[in-house]
Amino acid sequence: MPSVDHTTPPFAERIAELLARLSLDEKIGQLQQVAGAGGHVSDDLARAVREGRVGSVINEVHAPTVNALQWIAVHESRHGIPLLIGRDVIHGFATVFPIPLGQAASWNPDVVERGARIAAREAAACGVNWTFAPMIDIGRDPRWGRVAEGYGEDPYLTATLAAAAVRGFQTHDLTAPDAIAACAKHFVGYGASESGRDYNSTNIAPRELRDVHLPPFAAAVQAGVASVMTSFSDLDGIPASANRDLLTGVLRDTWGFDGLVVSDWDSIRQLAVHGLTADEWGSAREAALAGVDMEMASTTYAAHLAELVRSGHVPLAQVDAMVSNVLRLKFRLGLFERPFTEPASFPVAGNDAHLDAAYASACESIVLLTNTQREHEYLLPLAAGALQRVAVIGPLADDPYEQLGTWIFDGDAQHSRTVLQALRHTLPDSVQIEVAPGVPNTRSHDESGFADAVRAAERAEVAILVLGEESILSGEAHCRADVSLPGAQERLVEAVLATGTPVVLVIMAGRALALERIAHRVHALLYAWHPGSLGGPAIVDLLFGVVAPSARLPVTLPRVTGQIPIYYAQKHTGKPATPETVVSIHDIHPRAPQLSIGNTSFHLDVDPAPLFPFGYGLTYTWVEYDAPSVQHAEVALTGTVELSATITNRGARAADEVVQLYVRDLVGSVTRPVRELKGFQRVHLAPGERRTVHFSLPVSALAFHGRDLTLAVEPGRFHAWVAPHAAAGTFVEFSVCA
Ligand code: GLC
Repeated sequence: MPSVDHTTPPFAERIAELLARLSLDEKIGQLQQVAGAGGHVSDDLARAVREGRVGSVINEVHAPTVNALQWIAVHESRHGIPLLIGRDVIHGFATVFPIPLGQAASWNPDVVERGARIAAREAAACGVNWTFAPMIDIGRDPRWGRVAEGYGEDPYLTATLAAAAVRGFQTHDLTAPDAIAACAKHFVGYGASESGRDYNSTNIAPRELRDVHLPPFAAAVQAGVASVMTSFSDLDGIPASANRDLLTGVLRDTWGFDGLVVSDWDSIRQLAVHGLTADEWGSAREAALAGVDMEMASTTYAAHLAELVRSGHVPLAQVDAMVSNVLRLKFRLGLFERPFTEPASFPVAGNDAHLDAAYASACESIVLLTNTQREHEYLLPLAAGALQRVAVIGPLADDPYEQLGTWIFDGDAQHSRTVLQALRHTLPDSVQIEVAPGVPNTRSHDESGFADAVRAAERAEVAILVLGEESILSGEAHCRADVSLPGAQERLVEAVLATGTPVVLVIMAGRALALERIAHRVHALLYAWHPGSLGGPAIVDLLFGVVAPSARLPVTLPRVTGQIPIYYAQKHTGKPATPETVVSIHDIHPRAPQLSIGNTSFHLDVDPAPLFPFGYGLTYTWVEYDAPSVQHAEVALTGTVELSATITNRGARAADEVVQLYVRDLVGSVTRPVRELKGFQRVHLAPGERRTVHFSLPVSALAFHGRDLTLAVEPGRFHAWVAPHAAAGTFVEFSVCA
């Protein structure tokens, strides 16, 4: 067997040979990504490709057009270099899966990998060979619209799902016809945009950057992600597209990333808008020296890079390195050997198998948050046979488009099955279904539809409300300063509650909403995110117990917007709130002396706890957790902590339990979070089944960036929980010894 040469970068000879033949202008042409003309080859684009001024086309998904562009690139340009064809395939292509935040609620890497695999297959059929996903920004501020696109607030869960997405898009063989290059974005820290306002500044402390925001990208690189996209945002005054310390220092020098770095749309030109540079000449220089290989949409490289090289402001070697990264991806994709797509060789988009997978993904993504008892019976699962009349209320109960969520450029709403459609399919003809939208849309304050909704509820044994956000209210640039239910929807809930009919509230949203005023007043609450093409059947099958809920929150749900940012891995502070010290604004005596209340960390006007904690979710049974145990109370720095806990299904139904391992480092050279997720396992439990769950936690997983910013484990005492969510469980103590 020939020994594998790890010293020479992949395709080094082929890249060097090609590079030697390219003029400086042709090299710079490879660094340009331009927008497609939407289903045809414009004369300008054809000319640009033929003249070698284009390395990639974005947003062209018409297969014949893509093949025509590849033909020009391969057979009519001087060097025959094929094109990268990029598209945002975020949570599906024609078949739409739950939004990534919803998929994260499955806590199941297989769900994410399977969805990415199917999305890649459907996109590759159209000639797409590069997706701008997974988006792995840590999202702890639901005012920010892009929390919908990520995997939530936790670095460990996000890192695990990032790797799964990369595997799904790229498979183990990037040259496969249905494999597409993935892109970890947005590097880095975009989720910390101040006040949750998109594109706003981020000011992330060095330790938080290294312990919270970077780990998912490290995991994606470790998983072999083919590309990385820079963020729009500036980090401590340096916009990502000009941040050499991160793009070259961390990504390349520290992590050894040899893939392609692409700017976000127009973000190089925006360096001048930020005020980091005076003009596009300066922006091109900053981005090239920082390590941005390809320019998306703006043309500063095309306009200025040649002169920057000739004038010595950018070394030719730097441009060669950038072009090499582009060519390496094209070689990795096998584009020189197979530049064209053959749509007929792919399964039809939106086929039953793909839709079945979208249904299964939705079933595992929808979180049951409350389920109350009436006459000692839980309201859910509903018994179809016991119903004569069901009221279906809300603007999202029968909207094939809105349930798909944000970033579904190619989503085909024809494949959608809504809640109402699924109810009609599931319930016997004897059951009367009364439909009343209640409000025209989720933002509307028009209450003229309330009367119909109330009448429908009054006549029914149960009222199913499907409320939340239209898809336009989340996603890029769609941020909200108040994340409660928009429009008149809360008042609609009140009106229906007033009828006395049991209310099942199903939320479709692209973020964590602040539902304090209604969450514990409805009789059951299901959080469906935007559940994708088959969200309707998934919701209905969960409501009627065909499927048992197993999802868990990937984000903390706030009570009110004012609690944001609120996340489980908070610091303890020097004055933590305790039940004894927390005082409600409603309990303050007149003229209360200044020092008589408070003095610890809480808001006077809201309970300090979140509405629902990270990792929370109910099932149709009850799983009891025994206290965890640890095999050795003392573990060496090079050792492994062996933890276990016995869990028991105390109910009459099976459950898929997401058993979570949290750890707290009690004392550090810097303050440490009160809990950090370090592992999780999905465990299927039959009724009555007891299972001992084991976690083998390498001590190295306890490392963090200490006082001197080096990554290390610091000996000392730790607490560990094996629990159903971030606010539950009892801990066991262990020590790490030097
Ligand atoms: C957008 C987004 C980015 C996306 C790109 C191409 O502005 O920030 O996530 O991949 O442009 O559509």
